[in-house]
Amino acid sequence: MTSVRLRAPAKVNLRLRVLGRESGGYHQLETVFQALDLSDEVDVRSGPAGVHLDLDGPEPCPPEENLAYRAASAFLDRTGIAQGVSIRLSKRIPARGGLGGGSSDAAAVLRAMNRLFRDVLPGRELERLAADLGSDVPFFLSPSPLALAWGRGDRFLPLNALPPAPVLLAVPAFGVETHRAFRALGAAGVPAPVRPVGAIDPRKLSSWEGVAELAANDLQDAVFGLEPVLRSLFEALSGVGARLSLLSGSGSTLFALFEDRSTRDEAAEALSRRFGDVNWLRTTTLAAMPAPG
Ligand code: C5P
Repeated sequence: MTSVRLRAPAKVNLRLRVLGRESGGYHQLETVFQALDLSDEVDVRSGPAGVHLDLDGPEPCPPEENLAYRAASAFLDRTGIAQGVSIRLSKRIPARGGLGGGSSDAAAVLRAMNRLFRDVLPGRELERLAADLGSDVPFFLSPSPLALAWGRGDRFLPLNALPPAPVLLAVPAFGVETHRAFRALGAAGVPAPVRPVGAIDPRKLSSWEGVAELAANDLQDAVFGLEPVLRSLFEALSGVGARLSLLSGSGSTLFALFEDRSTRDEAAEALSRRFGDVNWLRTTTLAAMPAPG
């Protein structure tokens, strides 16, 4: 095998609770990830030594800072493989929006390289590399499109997938850097945890009705404080008959999940007339992680 092509899906957080702040400044989370039918494409080929990245789409940072590039370097360092890889990345997932695109690309690179180099690393090692790259990366190695995660995202429990549900994404023209959102949470003087802590009842995550009861994002108010336009967008999105609407991760993307496509489509049309500078994307939740190819 000389090349592996994978789809790298986006995610939303159906729930994101900040459980506490570690002494080093990082935050312990409890979160529920759901993968979406919106993907980047990652093609990895074996090649001369080193990592070569070819990006099709907006390039917000130098290649060496791209998480897919860093994933490939980390894999080569860990395994000591002398050969290199050439990565082609076709970006479809909006960047810096809380949709996990960079993390998903990184996880796809790890999986593709492990396949390319005949499963040189056991699954647990791959998860460890993923966790070192960023808190959302291990989820994208999960066999299930729905998972409950704790800590820095390195501890997660894959759950039974739910039936596909229509989703509307509101992607503003600006992003929100994750560290800014967490800093704003602290600056707002909101003591963490900002909601009573209690063990989540996983049975609630076996239906969309149950998910709607658990839906929450503890970063939302802090992020709305930073970018007040997001609060207006959220209020509009909350009034169009969705099952639930939330900020995804630290934003800036807001999403709403619907019972049926027609309500979603009507909402998309009405909202795009009101908020023309927002990218309104229609998608669905995934009931299975994408198959290779
Ligand atoms: O995980 P990621 O690299 O996107 O995090 C960027 C920054 O966001 C971290 O350096 C940290 O300041 C903040 N963060 C945090 N707690 C988390 C995730 C991110 O404080 N669980």
